[in-house]
Amino acid sequence: MKIVLTGFMGTGKTSVGKELSRKLGYQFIDTDVLIESREGKPVSLIFKENGEDYFRKLEQAVVREVSLMNNIVIATGGGVIKNRNNVENLGRRGIVIWLKADPGIILKRVMLEGGKRPLLEVEEPLKEINKLLTERKPLYTQADASVDTNYITPEETAEEILEMLALDARLVTVDLKERSYDIVIGSKVLNKLGLRLKEFRPSRVAVVSNKTVFPIYKDTILKALNDFDITPEVILIPDGEEYKDFTWTYYIHGELLKGRFDRNSLLVAFGGGVVGDITGFAASTYMRGIRYVQVPTTLLAQVDSSVGGKTGVNHPLGKNMIGTFYQPSLVMTDIDTIRTLPKGEFSAGIAEIIKYGVIADRELFNYLENNRENILSLSDSIIHVIKRSCEIKARIVSKDEKEAGLRAILNFGHTIGHAIETATGYKRFLHGEAVAIGMCAAADLAVIMNIFRKKEAERIRSLVEQYKLPNKIPDNINSSDIINAMEIDKKVKEGKIRFILPESIGKVRIQDSVDRELIKEVLQAR
Ligand SMILES: NC(=O)c1ccc[n+]([C@@H]2O[C@H](COP(=O)([O-])OP(=O)(O)OC[C@H]3O[C@@H](n4cnc5c(N)ncnc54)[C@H](O)[C@@H]3O)[C@@H](O)[C@H]2O)c1
Repeated sequence: MKIVLTGFMGTGKTSVGKELSRKLGYQFIDTDVLIESREGKPVSLIFKENGEDYFRKLEQAVVREVSLMNNIVIATGGGVIKNRNNVENLGRRGIVIWLKADPGIILKRVMLEGGKRPLLEVEEPLKEINKLLTERKPLYTQADASVDTNYITPEETAEEILEMLALDARLVTVDLKERSYDIVIGSKVLNKLGLRLKEFRPSRVAVVSNKTVFPIYKDTILKALNDFDITPEVILIPDGEEYKDFTWTYYIHGELLKGRFDRNSLLVAFGGGVVGDITGFAASTYMRGIRYVQVPTTLLAQVDSSVGGKTGVNHPLGKNMIGTFYQPSLVMTDIDTIRTLPKGEFSAGIAEIIKYGVIADRELFNYLENNRENILSLSDSIIHVIKRSCEIKARIVSKDEKEAGLRAILNFGHTIGHAIETATGYKRFLHGEAVAIGMCAAADLAVIMNIFRKKEAERIRSLVEQYKLPNKIPDNINSSDIINAMEIDKKVKEGKIRFILPESIGKVRIQDSVDRELIKEVLQAR
């Protein structure tokens, strides 16, 4: 993220910029200071000795240079925005914030500072400020947002900016070099979507959602976008896993084509994993790939499907069989959306969080055991566990984006889980519920293979139960149906059934070929 502060002299660009960069751990650059250090003299002297034109040329070069940087706060000289190239350069992949102040206050601040301001070395400085402000106002109003700094301190201004950009929320970065992106997690994050989208300078925006979720949040999301002059196209698909297919991908593409969406447009996936997966897939294939932002509204999507760039749709011959690896540009997770989620869906999301505990973080597992009430009441604890889950997934994806190895551990509980979903026609269990059963069965398998302690397997089973998730394969599902379903799963490599098995809570191994007899034994011992 690049934050650019513009505004007249005396509006606090430097002090606010320093505060912001300190709070964010970003680099801070003041274009005037950079020019002064390179020229070896103050701006006032450059103006006097070389003239304004000379200074503006230096300024343009410096702006071009710093515009290419990331994770940076840039305070610009008061006149930077007079040049259109500067405005374009600064705005590219950055948010421009205009700091405002009244002329009287500007004059007072400048006089208190005591430094030399070449443009104000006139008879009536207040008159001059008024004149220049009127001249520059149309330029300043091109900024993405503004903050009135009249009666607040630089620190308060910085805080306001952080809040406007949801940078006061919890942040996780998925580190994939030039394709890195942020996951923003917090309350009321949805309201900040409009300003955050500005960073991408999309030519058009389409919100893709479904007919259940969109009506609930229609007003909030449209206001969040309209406030920043974004009028999105809204593309709704029916609600359900069965619509995550080619037909509805084709429908989304058709709506984009009808709306003349070009390569610089952007999609917002607003919904659960189904909407996220199909929107990502549509984005990755429309005009050979356009950008998309995930706004996940189920707990499962918030901790899992919105992160990592696996997109896809189902085929009659297999679930998620058609898809791409295609990373979003941003993930905006608003925990308030979980409030309207059906209870079962919430628990299904918890199953994936338990999964992260088992595969990578014993402390997270302990936390889930000890903080059930706080998590269920959606207090700060839910933010904590969502963030931790995203950190784990982000770390794994950063190391193995395309599942060449390590990423497979995210499939813990999924080998049997998917098979149960297939054997029951995807009707009886939610994905997370099937994963919960699968995790317990994989733990049992690890116990009979003598790689995992029985006591630990019992802890997993009991935690799954605490969160009202199923932990046993129901009697009326045939073991051979489950094994058959496993054989056609993607996780089967060269006819061998692959399992992710726990060695201890917080550590798993990839077991490439597990004896079918042992699997049968576990499936039958219910
Ligand atoms: N891409 C990945 O890495 C990945 C990972 C895991 C799962 N998935 C996919 O995710 C999908 C499952 O996602 P899911 O569990 O989010 O299911 P879902 O998208 O079907 O959502 C579940 C239900 O909740 C409703 N809903 C969503 N948000 C709501 C809200 N805030 N308030 C009220 N209702 C709401 C939906 O309309 C739906 O009826 C599957 O297709 C699975 O394959 C993908």
